[in-house]
Amino acid sequence: MTQKTYSNLRSYRWYGVENLRAFGHRSRTKQMGFSRKDFEGKPVIGILNTWSDMNSCHSHFPQRVEEVKRGIWQAGGFPVVLPAMSVGEPFVKPTTMLYRNFLAMEAEELIRSHPIDGVVLMGGCDKTTPALLMGAISMNLPAIYFPAGAMLRGNWRGKVLGSGSDVWKYWAEKRAGNLSDEVWAELEDGIARSAGTCMTMGTATTMMTLAESLGFVLPGGSSIPAPDSNHSRLASDTGRRIVDMVWDNLKPSDILSPESFENAIVTALALSGSTNAIVHIIAMARRANIDLKLEAFDRLSRNIPVLADIRPTGRFLMEDFYYAGGIKGLLSRLRAHLHLDCLTVNGATLGANIEGAEVYHDEVIRTWDNPVWASGGLAVLTGNLAPRGAVIKPGAAEPHLLRHRGHAIVFKNYNDMERRIDDPNLPVTPDSVLVLQDAGPIGAPGMPEWGQLPIPKKILAQGIRDMVRISDARMSGTSYGACILHVCPESRVGGPLAFVQDGDIIEINVDERKLELLVNDEELDQRRAAWTPPPPHYERGYGAIFSQHVRQADEGCDFDFLETSAGESVSEPEI
Ligand code: FES
Ligand code: MG
Repeated sequence: MTQKTYSNLRSYRWYGVENLRAFGHRSRTKQMGFSRKDFEGKPVIGILNTWSDMNSCHSHFPQRVEEVKRGIWQAGGFPVVLPAMSVGEPFVKPTTMLYRNFLAMEAEELIRSHPIDGVVLMGGCDKTTPALLMGAISMNLPAIYFPAGAMLRGNWRGKVLGSGSDVWKYWAEKRAGNLSDEVWAELEDGIARSAGTCMTMGTATTMMTLAESLGFVLPGGSSIPAPDSNHSRLASDTGRRIVDMVWDNLKPSDILSPESFENAIVTALALSGSTNAIVHIIAMARRANIDLKLEAFDRLSRNIPVLADIRPTGRFLMEDFYYAGGIKGLLSRLRAHLHLDCLTVNGATLGANIEGAEVYHDEVIRTWDNPVWASGGLAVLTGNLAPRGAVIKPGAAEPHLLRHRGHAIVFKNYNDMERRIDDPNLPVTPDSVLVLQDAGPIGAPGMPEWGQLPIPKKILAQGIRDMVRISDARMSGTSYGACILHVCPESRVGGPLAFVQDGDIIEINVDERKLELLVNDEELDQRRAAWTPPPPHYERGYGAIFSQHVRQADEGCDFDFLETSAGESVSEPEI
């Protein structure tokens, strides 16, 4: 890191020099009502804002943008807002995952093409965090992440409601005939009461929290609930800080290392975070030229207990987590397993940032003597059904299913599953293994969150709420159950999952990390020879680019042409 001066800022090439182009840049900035004093001699700070009317989790961003700007002005920067695609999880179909790389590209190119010296990345809803960070890592200019924060607890007739988890729970009850339409409508009113992301330990809260342990958020910031006034103060602090980061030239490549990614994984495990985080962490690491493997998650998972008692794994919600001490409290309990000397955006180490942090509620953030699960937040299974791995959250499954043998009920794709899952003639028993094919990165496309296949009605009627389910899809972080996900390679590219047939026996042994299809090689070869892939989804447009370039789940599903080495000189536009 070498200290910057005005004349070696990136934006100086746009604003500072005396030529015809710079005249244009200055006069056009004045067109917006600014005078020279507003921008001359100052770093230009881009605020990448993923607000839109189609992202309910970011509905407070218009006010937060003003607060971030306030901080930037105070610290002597020149703030410019750059709207970016907002990928609101509930509304974008077929899945926001299709657009994570799109937003990552947009973030990178917004920064590259404009006179930006440093960026504030405003995200939170599921894919926005990894996407913004991926783009910023590739650009490798000073970048700080501003997390949207989680929404308030849900409330229904005095009962606490959690995003996602309680939807699945009450929907299962409704399907089982135990819930009236009136109650269902009341739940709709009570489950999302404020701005902010899902407040269970879903993908959004997992990613915001680990963005902090990775080093990209001001200390404690990722746990503040969206409507809390502390969140506004975080916004102006973030604005103030990025200006100094530019002068100090503190870049993502100074923050990221194999160790900082281990800190992120340890955090995700202690939270019992979303399985989606695996794909995103790997993608972010590869942008930083760190070849993180699935095995790292399995290895760390064996020693890291789940300490955060948050739904769907546990009992509480993010608001409770904040009051209990939040991420700083949690990290203080993980000290022995963290790389404390990793640098963070405030210029101090992770260790310094959690110095003196306390936990105020041992039920919400548990002690090592009394964890939610002693280990195994995640497990990576391999075998002839998933040669490059598959993942499961063992603690979210009924324990007896973690060592299981059952016959397969195979669905060719999602529509096939929807059509037949409740068919009274489906030969399904509680011991069956439900298999969903063609739901992977290319197959679905974007490996949608279909991995928590619904339990067939006739099994629900027997009082059963969990079964083994296997797919190349993902699962919402707010889901639960014995769901084996991210089977790799996916069936669409001829992974063995494509060759499973009804009645085949599948064996799962989570202790031994095994996932086996008990069909002999000869038979599998015959099936492979007879197999043709379904026709492609797209002939043109972004979907065609996606299908041609997306990597498999074990490599983070980034585009092959986007993986870069952070720290390599930014390819700068001609001005
Ligand atoms: Fe935005 Fe869950 S829908 S975080
Ligand atoms: Mg989600």
